[in-house]
Amino acid sequence: MNHPEAVSRLKPLSVNDLIAMKRRGEKIACLTAYDASFGAMIDKAGIDIMLVGDSLGMVIQGQQTTVPVTVDDMVYHTRCVSRARRRSFVIADLPFLSYTTSVVAAKNAAKLMQQGGAQMVKLEGARIEIVSFLVDQGVPVCGHLGLLPQSINYVGEYTVQGKERAAAEKIIEDAHKIELAGAQLLVLECVPAHLAKQISTELTIPTIGIGAGVDCDGQVLVLYDMLAIGTAKRPRFSKNFMHDAESIEAAISNYHQSVKDGQFPALEHSF
Ligand code: KIV
Repeated sequence: MNHPEAVSRLKPLSVNDLIAMKRRGEKIACLTAYDASFGAMIDKAGIDIMLVGDSLGMVIQGQQTTVPVTVDDMVYHTRCVSRARRRSFVIADLPFLSYTTSVVAAKNAAKLMQQGGAQMVKLEGARIEIVSFLVDQGVPVCGHLGLLPQSINYVGEYTVQGKERAAAEKIIEDAHKIELAGAQLLVLECVPAHLAKQISTELTIPTIGIGAGVDCDGQVLVLYDMLAIGTAKRPRFSKNFMHDAESIEAAISNYHQSVKDGQFPALEHSF
């Protein structure tokens, strides 16, 4: 584990460092972050990626879903997190309806990167043409498959995806297409562990799982879930790291260590 004081002296991570971690079998630790104070703590704990997720709609803004989150909201929070960044790689979500066409996606990615300071943008679903266009413009892209929270009004509930064979095959096919389109990371949310394992083995780019089992190349949790902040019920795939920690710093550090050691997620957090 990186000693926190040593972390501030380390060089900022690039996407190539994350790909190298996959190659050498080192797990990638990722947490969501929405502001500079938590961002500084997360960075100092040696977490490799800070994801400014549109989950901020729920945990910061008190919305029911991520649908109302705007590009301006994302730029504001990404800028806050980026100011605290020393070593972690910063990814920002393109929110709902901010990538309706390739040009719209590029304009909004520009805002997240130029005004927000993100190093990569994440978008949900198999939007292959858009991924390919962004990559051609030099925008590093993270895909997101499985449960797609921006599609909640279609899906109906936040539940495991890819349980049936046809749905699993579609997710596998889409994962390959996203890699071929040039994405350099892929988030897998709420899919059976065996499916995430197969995808992680077949792809050369790192997979980051949330409710996707221990065999992903990395793990991400929503910060407020793992710190047990807020009134919403904690999802089954998350864990309360505050439960046996004396401070927020210790909880984040325990999460970091558990991901690196392959201790988290345990079977009870997987599907
Ligand atoms: O918005 C978010 O926090 C996310 C994670 C759940 C992966 O996309």
